[in-house]
Order: sequence, then structure tokens, then C-alpha cells
Amino acid sequence: MSQLPTYIVTGGAGFVGSNLIASIYKREPGARVIVIDDFSSGSFANIVEAHARARLPPFSGEMLASSCDEIDWDSLLEESAPLAVFHLAAITDTTVVDERRMIEQNTESFRPILGACLQSATRLVYASSAATYGTPPQAAERTPFPLEAAGRPNNVYGFSKWLMECEHHAASEAHRQDSGQSPWVVGLRYFNVFGPGESRKGKMASMAHQLFTQIRSGQRPRLFKDGLQARDQVHVDDVVACTMCAAGLGERKRPSPGVFNVGSGRATTFLDMAERVRSGLGLSRDDLPVEFYEMPASVRAFYQDYTCADLTETDSGLGFVPRIDPLEGIEAYARALGASQRCV
Ligand SMILES: NC(=O)c1ccc[n+]([C@@H]2O[C@H](COP(=O)([O-])OP(=O)(O)OC[C@H]3O[C@@H](n4cnc5c(N)ncnc54)[C@H](O)[C@@H]3O)[C@@H](O)[C@H]2O)c1
Repeated sequence: MSQLPTYIVTGGAGFVGSNLIASIYKREPGARVIVIDDFSSGSFANIVEAHARARLPPFSGEMLASSCDEIDWDSLLEESAPLAVFHLAAITDTTVVDERRMIEQNTESFRPILGACLQSATRLVYASSAATYGTPPQAAERTPFPLEAAGRPNNVYGFSKWLMECEHHAASEAHRQDSGQSPWVVGLRYFNVFGPGESRKGKMASMAHQLFTQIRSGQRPRLFKDGLQARDQVHVDDVVACTMCAAGLGERKRPSPGVFNVGSGRATTFLDMAERVRSGLGLSRDDLPVEFYEMPASVRAFYQDYTCADLTETDSGLGFVPRIDPLEGIEAYARALGASQRCV
């Protein structure tokens, strides 16, 4: 058995998960890493490529090709005694409208993981989402979203993540009443994540990647009129660093449990993003100018015009502050994508 800790990463064949695995190995080369993924949206290639980008030896961890709801979590945690479980597996296609499937896969399969982690005192970090906010009053005011503004999501994906947080709060409270201690469970509301490793996400890839794909293929980038819709775009390296911090693998050895925002703390307009992608590809302002089109009324009703993470508690609770300026990160990403033979 390895002297170094064991980690379990669900959704490890996905975009964030594959980058997280590489980051764990970079930090602790001899660690035991158990990946659980049903390959519904992920691929082995994400893991291979994340290792290559991090200049690591080939992946040699363990892979359970299973859905999270097929795992006996109590037995797995007893057998492997992980230091932390990172639960990132989810249906990530926010346009899925099968509500039963979304809630079964994202929320119900979380319950046994949460229960087993509480029972065995294993650290648990799970992915929630900025989709839990829907369109809070702060969106109209164009001010950062404080944690308490969430809970009225616009789609069932956001609702499934909100329900995970509700399960977390209820189980933590019960645990606190029984034992007098808060369990080490951290939910992270990721905002719009971009960066290497997302090329297999198709229509769910970040706006930065979609703008790159359009411009690179010689098309004018298309944006809803007037391109001033703004989102909190956060680089995957910052997301991974925060996820590690939440498990006590950052500078702070005992971060606070709870739910936190993970973003850049800045709202970036789509128009500015298109400019930076163009500039990353070495094009001038006049090359392939943005083409604007009207937002359909059906989209308008649920559209998030503005998102921005309030990071006050992320800093105080987890000791995490993002390092990558989103526009600089997008420009560098477009440059790297443009320079590579294939999309990374
Ligand atoms: N990327 C973003 O912008 C973003 C924003 C907010 C929240 N999140 C959340 O972060 C997490 C990671 O997202 P991502 O962008 O890497 O998505 P992704 O689709 O690339 O990765 C998800 C992974 O989970 C796997 N998976 C799905 N359902 C599973 C199940 N039931 N059992 C086992 N494996 C399963 C998929 O095959 C895939 O490898 C997700 O929980 C997502 O909801 C992501």
C-alpha cells in the first residue's frame, strides 16, 4: 500500500476532473488515485492529455468505469481509506430537460457519497454550480453574487446542484448535533470554467472555446446583440487550485467547511472575449468582426445576462484567491489553441 494518501475523483475523465488528477499527481507523485467515471461525457483522452500538459509520466492510477450510483460507497471508503473524495461527476449538459434523469444522476447519486464520507470522516469536496443562482437581483444591478442569493435556478441542472447543497446542509447539521463537530464537506459553485481539456465538451464547451472554434474556421463570431452580456469566466487552473484548497491541499491545512463561489470575481463581456480571442490568434480588430443577432424570446426568458462571483467568503473560508486575469487567460488560451495542431 502506498505511503502517500489515496484520493477518489469522480468525473475524472472530464474537463475539470482530468486537470484535477494531473494536479494531484504533480503535488504528490506517488499518491493512489482512484477515478470513477461512466464516460457519458468524458474520455480517457482527457486524462492522457492532462498528464502530457503537466509533463507527468503516463497515468497509472486506478479506473472504475462505473456510474456513481453503481458504487458501494461504504465498502469503497472502508477498503481504500482515502484522504479526500472529489465528486465532480454529473450530467453537465445544462440543456437536458429530462428532470427525473437529471435529479437521479446528479442529486440522488450524491446522497450515498455524502453519507459514506460523513460516516468515515473522509473529506468531501463536490462540484456545485453558479447555475444555482438563476437570475438573482444582483444580475440586474450587475454586482457580484453573494452566497445567500442562490436557490432560484433557471434550469433543472441548476436545481439538481441546489438540491445537492440542501442535502449537504441537512446532513452537516445532523452530524453537528450528534457529534458537536462540522464535517469536512465543501461544495464549490463553479462559474464559467474555460481552459485546456474542454475540447470534447461540444456545445457545452466554454464561450472562449466556441469563439476560438468559429474564428479559427474563418467564420465571423456570432453574439447576441450587443455583446455586452457578461459572465464570470474562470480559468481551469484556478478552479483546480481552489478545489485542492477545499480539501486542505493548499496553503491552509484546515479550510472551513460549507459552500463557496469559485470564479474570477470579474464579469467579462462576450464582446471583450471575442476581441481577446482574435488578438490571441493574431488577427486585427477588422478581421472577422462580430456579427450580432437578436436573442429569441424563448432564450431571453431564462438567459443569465450577468454573472459574477462574490469571492469574499472563498478567500476567508478557503484561503483562495484566483490568480489568472480572465481576459489575459482567454487571450493566452486562444494563442495556445491556435498554435497547437489539434484543439487541446
Ligand atoms: N465546466 C464548467 O464551466 C462548470 C461550471 C459549473 C459547474 N461545473 C461542474 O463541475 C463538474 C465537472 O464539470 P466538467 O466541466 O469537467 O464536465 P465534464 O462533462 O467534462 O465532466 C463530467 C464527468 O463526469 C462523468 N459522469 C457523468 N455522470 C456520471 C455518473 N453518474 N457517474 C460517473 N461519472 C459520470 C462524465 O463522463 C465526465 O467525465 C460537474 O459536476 C459540473 O456540473 C462545471
